[in-house]
Amino acid sequence: MQQYSLNLNRNDFGDIQYAGSILSPEAAKGILDDWVKNDRLKVHMKQVAHLMGAYAKQLGLSDLEVAMWYQAGLLHDADWDQWPDQHCRKIIEELESRNVDPTLIRAIASHGPRYFGVEPVSLMDKMLYAFDELSGFVHAYALMRPEGYVGMEVKGVKKRLKDKTFAAQVSREDIQDASERAAIAVEDLIYFVISHQANADLS
Ligand SMILES: [Fe+2]
Repeated sequence: MQQYSLNLNRNDFGDIQYAGSILSPEAAKGILDDWVKNDRLKVHMKQVAHLMGAYAKQLGLSDLEVAMWYQAGLLHDADWDQWPDQHCRKIIEELESRNVDPTLIRAIASHGPRYFGVEPVSLMDKMLYAFDELSGFVHAYALMRPEGYVGMEVKGVKKRLKDKTFAAQVSREDIQDASERAAIAVEDLIYFVISHQANADLS
Protein backbone atom coordinates (compact mmCIF):
# COMPACT_ATOMS: atom_id res chain seq x y z
CA MET A 1 0.00 0.00 0.00
CA GLN A 2 1.35 3.39 -0.91
CA GLN A 3 2.52 5.79 1.78
CA TYR A 4 1.36 8.88 -0.06
CA SER A 5 -2.06 10.26 -0.85
CA LEU A 6 -3.27 10.11 -4.43
CA ASN A 7 -6.34 12.17 -3.66
CA LEU A 8 -6.71 14.70 -6.43
CA ASN A 9 -8.64 17.16 -4.25
CA ARG A 10 -10.54 18.46 -7.25
CA ASN A 11 -13.63 17.57 -9.15
CA ASP A 12 -13.45 19.59 -12.36
CA PHE A 13 -11.23 18.51 -15.18
CA GLY A 14 -10.33 19.98 -18.52
CA ASP A 15 -12.17 22.79 -20.25
CA ILE A 16 -15.59 22.48 -21.84
CA GLN A 17 -14.39 24.50 -24.84
CA TYR A 18 -12.40 21.40 -25.84
CA ALA A 19 -15.42 19.09 -25.87
CA GLY A 20 -14.99 16.54 -28.65
CA SER A 21 -11.23 16.96 -28.83
CA ILE A 22 -9.10 13.86 -28.30
CA LEU A 23 -5.51 12.92 -29.08
CA SER A 24 -4.63 11.41 -32.44
CA PRO A 25 -3.98 7.65 -32.20
CA GLU A 26 -0.30 8.41 -32.85
CA ALA A 27 -0.09 10.96 -30.05
CA ALA A 28 -1.81 8.58 -27.61
CA LYS A 29 0.55 5.78 -28.57
CA GLY A 30 3.44 8.24 -28.15
CA ILE A 31 2.50 8.79 -24.50
CA LEU A 32 2.28 5.05 -23.96
CA ASP A 33 5.67 4.43 -25.52
CA ASP A 34 7.41 7.35 -23.81
CA TRP A 35 5.91 6.93 -20.35
CA VAL A 36 5.30 3.21 -19.90
CA LYS A 37 8.33 0.96 -19.87
CA ASN A 38 6.59 -1.98 -18.19
CA ASP A 39 5.26 -4.27 -20.92
CA ARG A 40 2.71 -5.94 -18.68
CA LEU A 41 1.23 -2.58 -17.80
CA LYS A 42 1.10 -1.69 -21.49
CA VAL A 43 -0.81 -4.90 -22.21
CA HIS A 44 -3.23 -4.04 -19.41
CA MET A 45 -3.83 -0.54 -20.78
CA LYS A 46 -4.43 -1.88 -24.31
CA GLN A 47 -6.81 -4.51 -22.99
CA VAL A 48 -8.82 -1.98 -21.01
CA ALA A 49 -8.85 0.29 -24.08
CA HIS A 50 -10.20 -2.54 -26.20
CA LEU A 51 -12.95 -3.35 -23.69
CA MET A 52 -13.95 0.31 -23.45
CA GLY A 53 -14.11 0.71 -27.24
CA ALA A 54 -16.03 -2.53 -27.65
CA TYR A 55 -18.52 -1.55 -24.98
CA ALA A 56 -19.07 1.91 -26.46
CA LYS A 57 -19.61 0.31 -29.86
CA GLN A 58 -22.14 -2.09 -28.39
CA LEU A 59 -24.00 0.89 -26.93
CA GLY A 60 -24.24 2.31 -30.46
CA LEU A 61 -22.24 5.44 -29.64
CA SER A 62 -20.72 7.66 -32.34
CA ASP A 63 -17.27 6.99 -33.78
CA LEU A 64 -15.89 9.93 -31.79
CA GLU A 65 -17.36 8.60 -28.55
CA VAL A 66 -16.04 5.11 -29.25
CA ALA A 67 -12.59 6.63 -29.82
CA MET A 68 -12.95 8.63 -26.61
CA TRP A 69 -13.84 5.58 -24.53
CA TYR A 70 -10.95 3.69 -26.11
CA GLN A 71 -8.50 6.49 -25.35
CA ALA A 72 -9.65 6.78 -21.72
CA GLY A 73 -8.87 3.08 -21.34
CA LEU A 74 -5.58 3.34 -23.17
CA LEU A 75 -4.21 6.19 -21.07
CA HIS A 76 -5.76 5.60 -17.64
CA ASP A 77 -2.57 4.19 -16.07
CA ALA A 78 -0.03 6.10 -18.20
CA ASP A 79 1.75 7.62 -15.21
CA TRP A 80 1.63 4.57 -12.93
CA ASP A 81 4.87 3.03 -14.14
CA GLN A 82 7.29 5.91 -13.62
CA TRP A 83 5.45 8.22 -11.23
CA PRO A 84 3.34 6.07 -8.88
CA ASP A 85 3.26 8.89 -6.32
CA GLN A 86 1.71 11.15 -8.96
CA HIS A 87 -0.63 8.51 -10.35
CA CYS A 88 -3.54 10.05 -12.18
CA ARG A 89 -2.46 13.62 -11.44
CA LYS A 90 0.29 13.57 -14.06
CA ILE A 91 -1.69 12.13 -16.95
CA ILE A 92 -4.64 14.40 -16.13
CA GLU A 93 -2.43 17.49 -16.27
CA GLU A 94 -0.83 16.26 -19.49
CA LEU A 95 -4.23 15.78 -21.16
CA GLU A 96 -5.41 19.15 -19.89
CA SER A 97 -2.33 20.79 -21.39
CA ARG A 98 -3.12 19.08 -24.69
CA ASN A 99 -6.70 20.39 -24.67
CA VAL A 100 -8.42 17.03 -24.41
CA ASP A 101 -12.18 16.68 -23.90
CA PRO A 102 -13.12 17.10 -20.22
CA THR A 103 -15.29 13.95 -20.08
CA LEU A 104 -12.34 11.80 -21.15
CA ILE A 105 -10.10 13.35 -18.51
CA ARG A 106 -12.78 12.93 -15.88
CA ALA A 107 -13.16 9.24 -16.68
CA ILE A 108 -9.45 8.75 -15.99
CA ALA A 109 -9.67 10.84 -12.81
CA SER A 110 -12.51 8.70 -11.42
CA HIS A 111 -11.16 5.22 -12.21
CA GLY A 112 -10.19 4.64 -8.56
CA PRO A 113 -12.63 6.53 -6.34
CA ARG A 114 -11.04 5.17 -3.16
CA TYR A 115 -7.67 6.60 -4.15
CA PHE A 116 -8.33 9.69 -6.23
CA GLY A 117 -11.41 10.92 -4.37
CA VAL A 118 -13.39 11.45 -7.58
CA GLU A 119 -16.74 9.73 -7.97
CA PRO A 120 -17.50 7.95 -11.26
CA VAL A 121 -20.59 9.71 -12.64
CA SER A 122 -20.98 9.10 -16.37
CA LEU A 123 -21.31 5.63 -17.83
CA MET A 124 -17.85 6.05 -19.34
CA ASP A 125 -16.48 6.78 -15.84
CA LYS A 126 -18.22 3.75 -14.37
CA MET A 127 -17.21 1.32 -17.09
CA LEU A 128 -13.55 2.34 -16.90
CA TYR A 129 -13.63 1.69 -13.16
CA ALA A 130 -15.38 -1.66 -13.70
CA PHE A 131 -13.16 -2.90 -16.53
CA ASP A 132 -9.93 -1.82 -14.86
CA GLU A 133 -9.88 -4.47 -12.13
CA LEU A 134 -11.79 -7.16 -14.00
CA SER A 135 -9.63 -6.98 -17.09
CA GLY A 136 -6.46 -7.69 -15.13
CA PHE A 137 -8.12 -10.44 -13.17
CA VAL A 138 -9.45 -12.26 -16.23
CA HIS A 139 -6.08 -11.88 -17.91
CA ALA A 140 -4.31 -13.43 -14.91
CA TYR A 141 -6.77 -16.31 -15.11
CA ALA A 142 -6.17 -16.73 -18.86
CA LEU A 143 -2.42 -16.88 -18.29
CA MET A 144 -2.76 -19.82 -15.90
CA ARG A 145 -5.13 -21.76 -18.16
CA PRO A 146 -3.42 -23.98 -20.79
CA GLU A 147 -6.14 -22.92 -23.29
CA GLY A 148 -5.91 -19.23 -22.36
CA TYR A 149 -9.19 -17.54 -23.15
CA VAL A 150 -10.55 -20.45 -25.18
CA GLY A 151 -13.46 -22.12 -23.44
CA MET A 152 -13.24 -19.78 -20.45
CA GLU A 153 -16.49 -19.60 -18.51
CA VAL A 154 -17.96 -17.03 -16.14
CA LYS A 155 -18.22 -19.60 -13.37
CA GLY A 156 -14.48 -20.36 -13.63
CA VAL A 157 -13.68 -16.67 -13.14
CA LYS A 158 -16.13 -16.42 -10.25
CA LYS A 159 -14.51 -19.39 -8.57
CA ARG A 160 -11.13 -17.68 -8.79
CA LEU A 161 -12.61 -14.47 -7.39
CA LYS A 162 -13.60 -16.41 -4.28
CA ASP A 163 -10.02 -17.69 -3.92
CA LYS A 164 -8.44 -14.74 -2.14
CA THR A 165 -4.91 -15.98 -2.82
CA PHE A 166 -5.37 -15.84 -6.60
CA ALA A 167 -4.36 -12.46 -8.10
CA ALA A 168 -4.52 -11.18 -4.53
CA GLN A 169 -3.69 -7.62 -5.59
CA VAL A 170 -7.00 -7.31 -7.45
CA SER A 171 -9.54 -5.75 -5.13
CA ARG A 172 -12.71 -7.85 -4.94
CA GLU A 173 -14.28 -4.94 -3.09
CA ASP A 174 -13.66 -2.58 -6.02
CA ILE A 175 -15.10 -5.11 -8.49
CA GLN A 176 -18.28 -5.33 -6.41
CA ASP A 177 -18.43 -1.57 -5.94
CA ALA A 178 -17.93 -0.91 -9.66
CA SER A 179 -20.61 -3.44 -10.58
CA GLU A 180 -23.08 -1.77 -8.24
CA ARG A 181 -22.26 1.71 -9.48
CA ALA A 182 -22.64 0.65 -13.13
CA ALA A 183 -25.78 -1.36 -12.23
CA ILE A 184 -24.39 -4.29 -14.20
CA ALA A 185 -24.07 -7.70 -12.54
CA VAL A 186 -20.50 -8.89 -11.98
CA GLU A 187 -21.36 -12.00 -14.05
CA ASP A 188 -22.36 -9.84 -17.02
CA LEU A 189 -19.20 -7.77 -16.74
CA ILE A 190 -17.10 -10.95 -16.61
CA TYR A 191 -18.93 -12.34 -19.64
CA PHE A 192 -18.20 -9.18 -21.60
CA VAL A 193 -14.51 -9.29 -20.67
CA ILE A 194 -14.21 -12.98 -21.57
CA SER A 195 -15.95 -12.39 -24.91
CA HIS A 196 -13.84 -9.42 -25.97
CA GLN A 197 -10.49 -9.32 -24.24
CA ALA A 198 -8.73 -11.91 -26.38
CA ASN A 199 -9.35 -9.73 -29.44
CA ALA A 200 -7.46 -6.73 -28.08
CA ASP A 201 -4.80 -5.31 -30.40
CA LEU A 202 -1.61 -5.56 -28.35
CA SER A 203 0.75 -4.31 -31.07
FE1 LIG B 1 -5.62 0.03 -14.70
